Amino acid sequence: MESREILILGIESSCDETAAAVVRNGREVLSNVIASQIAVHTQFGGVVPEIASRRHIEQINQVITAALTEAGVGLSDITAIGVTYGPGLVGALLVGVAEAKAIAYGARKPLVGVHHIEGHVAANFITTYPGYERPQPELEPPFVCLIVSGGHTHLVIVKDYGEFEIIGRTRDDAAGEAFDKVARAVGLGYPGGPKVDQAAKGGNPHAFQFPRGKVAGSPYDFSFSGLKSAVLNHINHGKMTGEDICVPDLAASFQNAVVEVLVSRSVMAAKEYGYSRLAIAGGVASNSALRSAMKKACEENKLEFYYPPPVLCTDNGAMIGAAAYFEYQKGTRHGWDLNAVPNLKLGER
Ligand code: KG4
Ligand code: ZN
Repeated sequence: MESREILILGIESSCDETAAAVVRNGREVLSNVIASQIAVHTQFGGVVPEIASRRHIEQINQVITAALTEAGVGLSDITAIGVTYGPGLVGALLVGVAEAKAIAYGARKPLVGVHHIEGHVAANFITTYPGYERPQPELEPPFVCLIVSGGHTHLVIVKDYGEFEIIGRTRDDAAGEAFDKVARAVGLGYPGGPKVDQAAKGGNPHAFQFPRGKVAGSPYDFSFSGLKSAVLNHINHGKMTGEDICVPDLAASFQNAVVEVLVSRSVMAAKEYGYSRLAIAGGVASNSALRSAMKKACEENKLEFYYPPPVLCTDNGAMIGAAAYFEYQKGTRHGWDLNAVPNLKLGER
């Protein structure tokens, strides 16, 4: 193997996916193994933290072994171990952090702790993924990125690898949280986002006019609680009057309201701050309506649009491997005292 090659083993366990991947030079995914816990949590309607931690412990060794095997490498070929250390569920994070420390210590490899959201953004740096043809050349900072996950809704300027200026954030629910709550209310279940996305395909996005949350004086901030309440009121009204609720229309109208706000603010930010590239990241970035609306808006506004394949939008190890590579190149190293930080802020180390 060439000495210029840097191989990172990326480990992710912050929520309900136990994941590991091998990433070459920050952009090429050699393997990406994800053990999803969805089936376990579905019966409870959401993620149960204690169960998540236990499942991570049960799965993590096999997931890492599979990632190395699929990549065709051994631990000795790996340059450094990257691991998510926050934000997320503390017990879940601890499993990945403890595992990464044990492997790094045993194999005498450097340890690089990664911010989970920095990982989501770094999914956009990946150019080579099995079965995926990247439509554009390599993405390099600076660019504007919309981060939309289950816990975060941020509009940021990515100034350099791992360097963020936050220009907008949600004042209440995260976008993914709104999807999950609406899905639960209409009986679509967990995980809500993909179910709403699917149901909306058969619905009319203009059937109901729901509010587009604006935050006075903060054009780049988001608010989804008013929209969520409007949808819940609509459902309650239907239940009280005995009217049938058309789930596809409701899902499509709700989704349309979220997408419109996300797209218009992101495009406005890119234009006002003078960036020609716009990227999306996080679980909600796999939403089909958001992807097509963003693509159209970017074409109309002459912006280059970057988006990871859906499997790299939701939680995975490859994005952590990619982020860890750029951190490694900057000299970031963590010691054996690395701990899980459940409320780690973006940009903090
Ligand atoms: O990034 P992620 O996998 O985990 C966090 O870091 O939070 O995001 C999970 C969130 C969930 O709220 C899920 O419902 C949402 O992303 N999500 C979607 C879709 N796929 C996942 N939301 C809308 N449409 C989707 N297709
Ligand atoms: Zn995530």
